[in-house]
Amino acid sequence: MAKLSGKTALVTGASRGIGRAAAFALAEAGAKVFVHYSQAADEAEAVVAEIRGKGGEAEKFKADLSEATGPHQLAAEVAKATKKLDIVVANAGISTAATIEETKVEDFDRQFAVNVRAPFFLVQQLLPVLGDGSSIVLVSSLAARTAVGTLSAYAATKGAIDTLVKHFAFALGGRGIRVNAVAPGIVATDMSNFAKTDAGKEFALGIQAIKRVAQPTDISGAIAFLASDDSQWVTGDTIRVDGGSRL
Ligand SMILES: NC(=O)c1ccc[n+]([C@@H]2O[C@H](COP(=O)([O-])OP(=O)(O)OC[C@H]3O[C@@H](n4cnc5c(N)ncnc54)[C@H](OP(=O)(O)O)[C@@H]3O)[C@@H](O)[C@H]2O)c1
Repeated sequence: MAKLSGKTALVTGASRGIGRAAAFALAEAGAKVFVHYSQAADEAEAVVAEIRGKGGEAEKFKADLSEATGPHQLAAEVAKATKKLDIVVANAGISTAATIEETKVEDFDRQFAVNVRAPFFLVQQLLPVLGDGSSIVLVSSLAARTAVGTLSAYAATKGAIDTLVKHFAFALGGRGIRVNAVAPGIVATDMSNFAKTDAGKEFALGIQAIKRVAQPTDISGAIAFLASDDSQWVTGDTIRVDGGSRL
């Protein structure tokens, strides 16, 4: 059942992984999807082609969100392409595993640039084009809630997302704009390649209630739910989508 017909959605980092699955889920529900990517142009084009092949509407947009001006450029391109945006999924993210001792200033800064600064300024820059009643979905992580792996700098970026969700939701609620986040656990994507190894799989299953490794489609349904009016009374929340990790 299409619940997003007539809506236009931007998904950042939609060339691969969770963002790609989210783009497909939103298109499946009837939304026109702006597929953002940074380096993976062929993969982004394949996402656009697959959506169009199924009768949907999609366009791709390139922007490097590690650059301070990246979110501004992306928002300007989006504003040229549509008068009204209904859904933003700020999904693009990076992680660098490192112990506290090993963490380099440049890696720390790059993670905060892509994972926190970019969503903040993307939302800021999109405010004029975001329709009243629109939905913003940010992407947090299990790592914000509990110590997993050697990811303290990355985890701090996701802790910032959990905080931004509340402040953005309160500030934008007057326009009926809802702001939420999903917090995936370990998902088998390029970012969490270790989940595809035997040791990674064993670790994931050891901390999860549900005993299988999550795929991007395990997350995209929750993103589509938060994007749709089915979640019309949900705002300012981070929803765990982690197969019951570290309960
Ligand atoms: N996988 C997990 O276990 C897991 C768990 C919890 C939370 N998350 C979060 O879920 C989100 C998606 O992760 P994923 O696992 O799907 O990662 P992924 O497969 O590595 O994909 C990352 C996406 O982000 C984009 N991206 C990376 N650097 C960028 C930059 N500088 N500028 C613009 N876009 C950039 C990539 O675009 P290009 O390929 O085009 O460069 C790609 O589309 C992230 O926010 C991540 O922190 C993931």
